[in-house]
Amino acid sequence: MSSTRDIGVSRRALLQGGVAAGVGFAVSPSLAFAAASETAPARPSPAFSLPLITKAIPSTGERLPVVGIGTNQYSVTAPEELAARREVLEQLPNLGAKVVDTAWGYGDSEIVIGKLVKELGNRDKLFIATKTPNRGDLPPGTAALEQALTRLQTQRIDLLQIHNFYGIDELFPVLVDAKQAGKVRYVGVTTSTDQQYPKLFEALQKRRLDFIQVDYSIEDQGAEKVLQLAREKGVAVLINVPLGGRRGSLLRKVKDKPLPDWAREIDAGSWAQLLLKYTIAHPAVTAVIPGTTKLAHLEDNQLAARGRLPDAAFRKKIESFWATA
Ligand SMILES: NC(=O)c1ccc[n+]([C@@H]2O[C@H](COP(=O)([O-])OP(=O)(O)OC[C@H]3O[C@@H](n4cnc5c(N)ncnc54)[C@H](OP(=O)(O)O)[C@@H]3O)[C@@H](O)[C@H]2O)c1
Repeated sequence: MSSTRDIGVSRRALLQGGVAAGVGFAVSPSLAFAAASETAPARPSPAFSLPLITKAIPSTGERLPVVGIGTNQYSVTAPEELAARREVLEQLPNLGAKVVDTAWGYGDSEIVIGKLVKELGNRDKLFIATKTPNRGDLPPGTAALEQALTRLQTQRIDLLQIHNFYGIDELFPVLVDAKQAGKVRYVGVTTSTDQQYPKLFEALQKRRLDFIQVDYSIEDQGAEKVLQLAREKGVAVLINVPLGGRRGSLLRKVKDKPLPDWAREIDAGSWAQLLLKYTIAHPAVTAVIPGTTKLAHLEDNQLAARGRLPDAAFRKKIESFWATA
């Protein structure tokens, strides 16, 4: 692993697993915080000057920044809660990120995002991923799509995912047609438990998916074989609950423990960055979507999309450390 002094020539570390550093900086550090709120650091972290890491969507080659956000806590109405989410959605592209993952099943999350993004006028800077209804009376296929477009106040959804396979036989052909009609750019399927993986294997074998979404983290590796198959099939992968989720948070486990010095060797300055870099470096992973409702957490997580990633040996080192710590 290169030392921090070698960062300017450390592209080899970034290039493993189909990773490439973006050309130049997505945003200059001064710009990154120019419009940030009072809660933002007074001065940007120098780490924002490190190159942005992007990975390719195999079906098109389009590159995505490797850290986005999950928004299952965006169904809010209180003014201060809305203001916090607005701040996250405003700063997300300024920090170099794009992917915003939501779902019909997250209450009014789609509606809140649609309204805030419209107000902010930054729709074109985002890659919006949502999901079709996961329960109840499934509206006819086209209605599920039209409903998502309306709730998100957009003409086109970047990624429409079938949530937990619900209605997949009816929906899949509708979404393929919607792709041809330009209303959807990519089609996928999402899951978040090991029990769903046999069905996910089948979907990967049987259907032409652009994306899958699975749960994966240093303590949650049931998706390993699915990840391998997705890589073989050339399917992009979004990772949900990369920090362990709201209940079993990995960060809570280490909150009183010092970050090991060697984390600096991969430009990780916090536990969240170390854990996210561990997952991003998996060769099958395209991007992670940690759930984030606070600007400070967004900024922390976005630094995981900068600088160096662990190679296979370094990932093992993180695993050994985690097992004993
Ligand atoms: N079947 C499916 O398709 C499925 C299932 C589950 C989840 N998902 C998607 O995955 C996303 C992520 O799941 P998740 O939110 O449950 O789990 P997660 O990303 O593992 O954890 C999010 C939690 O970590 C906190 N957090 C985030 N960054 C932090 C940081 N740097 N420092 C300290 N705390 C931090 C968040 O707090 P704050 O809110 O305070 O920032 C939140 O409590 C969801 O939002 C959703 O989009 C999809």
